Amino acid sequence: MDWNSSIPQDKSLDNTLNVLREGYYFIPHRCRHLQSDIFQTRLLGQKVFCMSGKDAAAFFYDKAWFTRKKAAPKRVQKTLFGVNGIQTMDGSAHEHRKLLFMSLMTEDRLTMLDNLVYAHWQARVGEWKNKKDVILFNEAEQVFCQAACDWAGVPIREEELPERARDFSNMIDAFGAVGPRHWQGRIARQRAEAWIRNVINDIRDGRLGTTEDSALYKMAFYRDTDGHFLSTQQAAVELINVLRPITAIATFLTFSALALHDHPESREMLKTDDNEAYYRFAQEVRRFYPFGPFLGARVRSGFIWNNRTFKKGTLVLLDLYGTNHDPRLWERPNEFQPDRFKDWNGGLFDLIPQGGGDYYTNHRCPGEWATVEAMKASLRFLVNDIRYDVPVQDLRYSMSRMPTLPKSKFIMTNVQPKTE
Ligand code: HEM
Repeated sequence: MDWNSSIPQDKSLDNTLNVLREGYYFIPHRCRHLQSDIFQTRLLGQKVFCMSGKDAAAFFYDKAWFTRKKAAPKRVQKTLFGVNGIQTMDGSAHEHRKLLFMSLMTEDRLTMLDNLVYAHWQARVGEWKNKKDVILFNEAEQVFCQAACDWAGVPIREEELPERARDFSNMIDAFGAVGPRHWQGRIARQRAEAWIRNVINDIRDGRLGTTEDSALYKMAFYRDTDGHFLSTQQAAVELINVLRPITAIATFLTFSALALHDHPESREMLKTDDNEAYYRFAQEVRRFYPFGPFLGARVRSGFIWNNRTFKKGTLVLLDLYGTNHDPRLWERPNEFQPDRFKDWNGGLFDLIPQGGGDYYTNHRCPGEWATVEAMKASLRFLVNDIRYDVPVQDLRYSMSRMPTLPKSKFIMTNVQPKTE
């Protein structure tokens, strides 16, 4: 970015419809066209700065300039995040809450999550042998939801699993939506919050037990900066901030299967069962395929920068997808090449599918390593434990729908365990 030049302005009166039309390409295409890493526009009637690239990410995560207060619209809080969750917090209160999430990510706990994910995949194979078609995304959302609940200490009955998993997926599916998809997300959140509030009450009242290192225990008995327990509702919101995103790994796993299908040579590479090969593959899936398009923050208190006034409260959007495809950071960014992560010398602001900056002091996703590990465990299962055919189907994915997924959700036929 030429941080010394002035900030160009996109000439459209209001770009809201273009965001919906262009989706993941909205910011990167305009940056390229305007030859700038930052531009000014209007969305939903308000002035917005859109930014892309590594320097922009470092700027965006500088807490001196930007805050998350009032950055997430209520419609996103009522579906994806939950109202007043950690995503909307700032300063020392945020750092205190973030420690709670980071305390879940110990090596032992991550190994436990991997083992659960792997075991739940294996438990499904028997059922698949009798099925004509297996829709991978639908199976994955249940595998990850069940693993998430077991890992977190949340009891879930077999018969309720499909609906609970669907509810978490519907919350995620609502983030870029207006109309019915948005409302489906709201209903899903209301149902999930009611369920998890009961679970929090049960553990607080001693009707339910779990280990002290589980997410359920930690959320239920966490004391905020004021020394008080979270309200039941707030504890439920934060526990769902663990269960829902683990379920969301189903999207990356579906894209992983697509990548294996489109790049059979990488399947061969993975068969060597080299841990590093799985790591590189998972990293490239997270970089290459679209999931979170951009993040929002607001100007903390007004400042002047390159002769431009950033007024207090102005919305800024950081382009995640475009930064992960920025040719200054990634050679041939539009090619799927896991080997680019061999001896990769990554920084805090280049690979940002789950946000950037520091885990403890910024809003960067605390579940990033859990995601990579759960993807690796699932890939091992797909590559080493089963054989399957990929029938003709529509594997294309839209770049305007956010979030997106291969249209067919990846159908597999003739699924058999390899041991047979
Ligand atoms: C599919 C995998 C995932 C994706 C794509 C993803 C993506 C993201 C993104 C983009 C952010 C926002 C970063 C920012 O605001 O700067 C975030 C934050 C967060 N993620 Fe993830 N995430 C994933 C998995 C997970 C997992 C497995 C967990 C927990 C077990 C998790 C928990 C959270 C929490 C609690 C936050 C808020 C952090 C904060 O505000 O400080 N995520 N994630």
